[in-house]
Amino acid sequence: MRQIVITQHGDAGVLKIQEKPDPKPSSGEILIQVKAIGINFADILARKGLYPDAPKPPCVVGYEVAGVIESVGEGVDSSKIGNAVFALTRFNGYSDKVCASENAVFPIPESLDFESAAAIPVNYLTAYQLVYVMGGLKKGESVLIHNAGGGVGLAALDIALHLETTTYGTSSAGKHAFLRKRGLDHPIDYRKHDFLASVLALTNGRGLELIIDPIGGKNWKKSYNALRSTGRLGMFGVSTVTESTAGKVVQFAKLLLHTPWFNPLRLMNANKSVFGVNLGHMWREREKISAWMNEIIKGIEDGWIRPHVDRSFPFEQAGEAHTYIEARKNIGKIVLVTDG
Ligand SMILES: NC(=O)c1ccc[n+]([C@@H]2O[C@H](COP(=O)([O-])OP(=O)(O)OC[C@H]3O[C@@H](n4cnc5c(N)ncnc54)[C@H](OP(=O)(O)O)[C@@H]3O)[C@@H](O)[C@H]2O)c1
Repeated sequence: MRQIVITQHGDAGVLKIQEKPDPKPSSGEILIQVKAIGINFADILARKGLYPDAPKPPCVVGYEVAGVIESVGEGVDSSKIGNAVFALTRFNGYSDKVCASENAVFPIPESLDFESAAAIPVNYLTAYQLVYVMGGLKKGESVLIHNAGGGVGLAALDIALHLETTTYGTSSAGKHAFLRKRGLDHPIDYRKHDFLASVLALTNGRGLELIIDPIGGKNWKKSYNALRSTGRLGMFGVSTVTESTAGKVVQFAKLLLHTPWFNPLRLMNANKSVFGVNLGHMWREREKISAWMNEIIKGIEDGWIRPHVDRSFPFEQAGEAHTYIEARKNIGKIVLVTDG
């Protein structure tokens, strides 16, 4: 098999293809012949050495794939061989063959091709946990989706629209026309305008019920200030850490310096709440993940979950795919496709 290896921390050039012996599924595992691989922002942070959860290089990242079941380990029904599936992988996804735990593997609904299926697991599970499970968004409420044009952003928008809420979203201006067509009510160009001022102007100074924020640092403070009473802030990323070109230690020090501390008494008096989401730390909660995925699959069948693949890059061009995302060009998901 072939894998895309992060040979050392650095720019996209550190990604190299290496040949390895084919993996064998252990008990309870499924070996997937991979057709498409979902790229996540976390992969870029891992490549740069800014993702503490990632293994040390040389390593293979990748949280999600879609493909065909090639073989199964002990205890797994062998009649599944040949089925089209998508799966969560705990790293190692940047491979043309990968083993995944049976309970992290799901059948691909008929309406999806492999590329769209690879766009589902991380983006939609994260968005579902943020918007519905922990954010508790309800009909008639309002939500601000930061990075609305990204993978998680579009997934969150699908869920928020399904819940019949008023949607606000920040993104680079070039994505606004697409976002409006997708159903976003209020796109905000956060790179030119202060999003807090924009939200307050659009809501007569009241603010919003839910804000989901993957930027981190001082953005979290501004997001908190954009909540109205009963508002919830869901924090799930620190994209801001990539903005500085200083060394890793300085980047993290700056991040910590700007990260707000939330005081319980102030939260109580403001009638606001804050919460965090890290899907990568949900591996022990298989039952919840399966239940959420079943709802997502139903949403695909009913048509309100609409995975959007912006571009597919050949397996050999993982570096180009990373560079495309880093240049903020993607609208929705970027996937790698194998020739298998
Ligand atoms: N906690 C979790 O479980 C979890 C799971 C998945 C993702 N995440 C986080 O959610 C965020 C979005 O992830 P994603 O995979 O869906 O990626 P994505 O949103 O598709 O990422 C690319 C987009 O992010 C925006 N962006 C904001 N700051 C950026 C920066 N400093 N450099 C480059 N782009 C930047 C850009 O759009 P605009 O210019 O239009 O804003 C860019 O097009 C990331 O922070 C990721 O780490 C967290």
